[in-house]
Amino acid sequence: MGGQPLRVALLGCGVVGSEVVRLLDVQAEDLAARVGAPIDVVGIGVRDVAADRGPAVPPDLLSSDLTGLVARPDVDVVVELMGGIEPARTLLLAALRRGASVVTANKALLAEHGAELHEAADAHGVDLYYEAAVAGAIPLLRPLRESLAGDTVTRVLGIVNGTTNYILTRMDESGASFSDALAEAQALGYAEADPTADVEGHDAAAKAAILAGLAFHTRVTLGDVHCEGITGVQAHDVDVARAMGHVIKLLAICERSADGRGICVRVHPAMLPRTHPLAGVREAYNAVFVESEAAGQLMFYGRGAGGSPTASAVLGDLVAVGRNRLAGGRGPRESAYADLEVRPVGEARTRYYLGLDVADRAGVLAAVAQTFAANDVSIETLRQDGRGDAAALVIVTHKAAEEALARVVADLRGLDVVRAVASVLRVEGE
Ligand code: HSE
Repeated sequence: MGGQPLRVALLGCGVVGSEVVRLLDVQAEDLAARVGAPIDVVGIGVRDVAADRGPAVPPDLLSSDLTGLVARPDVDVVVELMGGIEPARTLLLAALRRGASVVTANKALLAEHGAELHEAADAHGVDLYYEAAVAGAIPLLRPLRESLAGDTVTRVLGIVNGTTNYILTRMDESGASFSDALAEAQALGYAEADPTADVEGHDAAAKAAILAGLAFHTRVTLGDVHCEGITGVQAHDVDVARAMGHVIKLLAICERSADGRGICVRVHPAMLPRTHPLAGVREAYNAVFVESEAAGQLMFYGRGAGGSPTASAVLGDLVAVGRNRLAGGRGPRESAYADLEVRPVGEARTRYYLGLDVADRAGVLAAVAQTFAANDVSIETLRQDGRGDAAALVIVTHKAAEEALARVVADLRGLDVVRAVASVLRVEGE
């Protein structure tokens, strides 16, 4: 149908890759009609050619020579679904420099070497698409890159890791501890046997770097992202959040600084009011809330992982590459002209919840309040629950800089009357 076939080489053929191959086959006619030319898979690079990949993957297309595959002059587009930095980086740079377009789902690679890949794509006049790298099936990068290109984004607030969202949902809804909820997520296949990248926030941080780069037209790398995971979230914190009408979520937050000349990018658990649209995003779902000057508030919601959802995003990119090629043009290039300064997390301003165990005697509240005042952090609410000689204090602050709050916590720990600063959590979404 129509033009010359779009010839595709696939690198990696696991859960997502085999689903891409299957969907390309079962939807071949529709996809050809949408592109204006058929999409043909001409080779699939894998580490182990002998592994069972199901009936959808033709064994004769498999090869363990990935370098040879990307060098083939008849390949128009390389789809990379292997993950990891090397050899993916070297293979994709070779493909781009040879004049092949690239579609990738590799968030870690983009968050660390995105600029290098974009420069190679520009230098050789080819496409680089990566919708599947952030929040799986959710159309999110194209809206940021294209639909919102005429607007000014001020903030992106996202739940971009399904594993941690599942764990926090279980902790909230069933009262499970972190370790029990993690074991449940592993049993259901949401969490890996080694869950470090998810629970320590690294996966979300890579996605935050990509989102911030697109939202603010600025190069942002993984090293620019302040990252805290959810391993320290206690069942008690979840109970307190609930009592306050809040829920704890792992958030990726990308925002402009108050002076508009900088940005701050951070990933950490935070309390969200249950009335916030992101608070209702349960289990392994992802959602991203975007605030912009003209459009106002937007939310993108859906499945952030899994074979079919991720394959949907990959196929959308492949159709875009095919259409661009037939039209003799390219999709949008990297837009990093704004080159905003990435500010340290200490400058980020938010509200805080603090749980303190204190002595219950005269002057304690005054000493605690004085510590906040001395660091210019204003208290919004304070609740005391006296238990004889000890008391629990729950304090919520007005917006304050991270560095000021850190000084408050250090000073509180130095007070005789404070037995423990039991919890400190940011409060977002207001
Ligand atoms: N492990 C990720 C998640 C999916 O749990 O959302 C891939 O980024």
